[in-house]
Amino acid sequence: MPTVLLLHRWMRDPLGLMKECRARFGETFTVKLVSTPRMVILSNPEHVREVFASHGDDMHAGKIAASLVPFLGSQSVIVLDGQPHRSLRKLVMPPFHGERMHAYGQQMIDVTHDAIDGWRVDEAFAVHEAFQGITLDIILRTVFGLDDAARRQEVGAQLARLMHVASWPPLLLPQMQHDLGPWSPWGRFQRELAKGDAMLRGVIDARRSAGTAGHTDILSLLLDARDEDGRGLDEGALRDQLVTLLVAGHETTATALAWTMRWVLALPRVRDRLLDELHAAQRTGPLTPERIAKLEYLDATVREALRLQPVVPLVGRVLQQPMTFAGYDLPSGVSLTPSVFLVHQNPDIYTRPEQFDPERFLGRQYKAHEWIPFGGGIRKCIGMAFALYEMKMVLATVLARTWLRPRPGYVPRVVRRSITLTPSEGMPVVADAVLPRDRFVAQA
Ligand code: HEM
Repeated sequence: MPTVLLLHRWMRDPLGLMKECRARFGETFTVKLVSTPRMVILSNPEHVREVFASHGDDMHAGKIAASLVPFLGSQSVIVLDGQPHRSLRKLVMPPFHGERMHAYGQQMIDVTHDAIDGWRVDEAFAVHEAFQGITLDIILRTVFGLDDAARRQEVGAQLARLMHVASWPPLLLPQMQHDLGPWSPWGRFQRELAKGDAMLRGVIDARRSAGTAGHTDILSLLLDARDEDGRGLDEGALRDQLVTLLVAGHETTATALAWTMRWVLALPRVRDRLLDELHAAQRTGPLTPERIAKLEYLDATVREALRLQPVVPLVGRVLQQPMTFAGYDLPSGVSLTPSVFLVHQNPDIYTRPEQFDPERFLGRQYKAHEWIPFGGGIRKCIGMAFALYEMKMVLATVLARTWLRPRPGYVPRVVRRSITLTPSEGMPVVADAVLPRDRFVAQA
């Protein structure tokens, strides 16, 4: 296919293109776009397992995110590779350990209640946008530790403005990265970045001077984190991780929530079963975060949504040396690229893969190279436990308090927003009912 046409298809319909290539060329094929390394797209789960088994010196993932350095910073865990990546990951990972998530559950539920309080019956609204507001607020509370609503509002507005300016795709091109004054795209970005950075420095300084003792937010835990030699993260590294967690954790989770709603609202059998499970839990005690986290059908629904409609369709590793892989001799510089989408569409792993069927996750755990919405190996998403927990808290609260339906005539399409794939028009819905907050008793 001519390069221009290929790029156009890749931007407009990456999933359709991958499906077509798989049917035409088999389970492994290559794609070369203008601005990326040659990608060897993998869909055989055994090949994916091999990629995820890498220790990270022979294959680099940080290089793929290099264009994000101006925004995330050069010390972000996403852009580093090799030993520096492994050392930093060791410091950043512990606050995201699964068991720790209970500390954030109530805040996740409270933020969702605050958002629902603003929803009006019979009014159409974009549920993806509503989820973006919720996931941003959750990160500001649980990661940045901003308990004060007015301060959260101020910091959130500046960071949302910065993310909006930074999300214009041409900004990633080096030719665009020249400051020609406040009205040029790069100039505008630089000015918003300076304001955002000043605000982040203020957040870090305030937490440092108030002390971290007794605080469970992730910034406090990162301030206290030390490596084997007793070294912590300096000011710059802390700033870079905060921006990284915000960018990596906010849009992705909001999009995953929007896709989950898309299926739940379309399939009455799924919504009925979710509500039966929720109501049964409500009858036997308060809906605490711990109890919501254990709801099996809710968990299966979230996992199935991430399977059928992965938010990030590909993950890549650039070879640092020539390698024979899957029977092919590959030069260094090529990217081994597991296709999350194609692995999740494999009928040998998932029967009737095109159907939304949460039951397939009940009583069954898929292997680490079969269910890969969060990637894998030493680059696996640091926020996986956080995102799954958050999705369950938000969905349980929305389902228990509201009755939503898709806006009449809405036909969802997949649209690309930077590296994520989102539902078109922000997935418009209409609220037929919004119950008062006290109908959902979460406090123990
Ligand atoms: C549904 C929501 C999310 C999805 C689908 C998702 C997906 C991913 C994927 C596919 C990767 C790349 C993995 C690889 O290359 O193997 C990744 C990396 C990462 N994610 Fe997430 N993510 C989500 C939520 C979050 C959250 C909530 C946070 C933190 C608050 C987070 C933080 C990160 C970080 C720091 C990395 C880089 C890890 C590294 O390079 O070592 N993500 N995520």
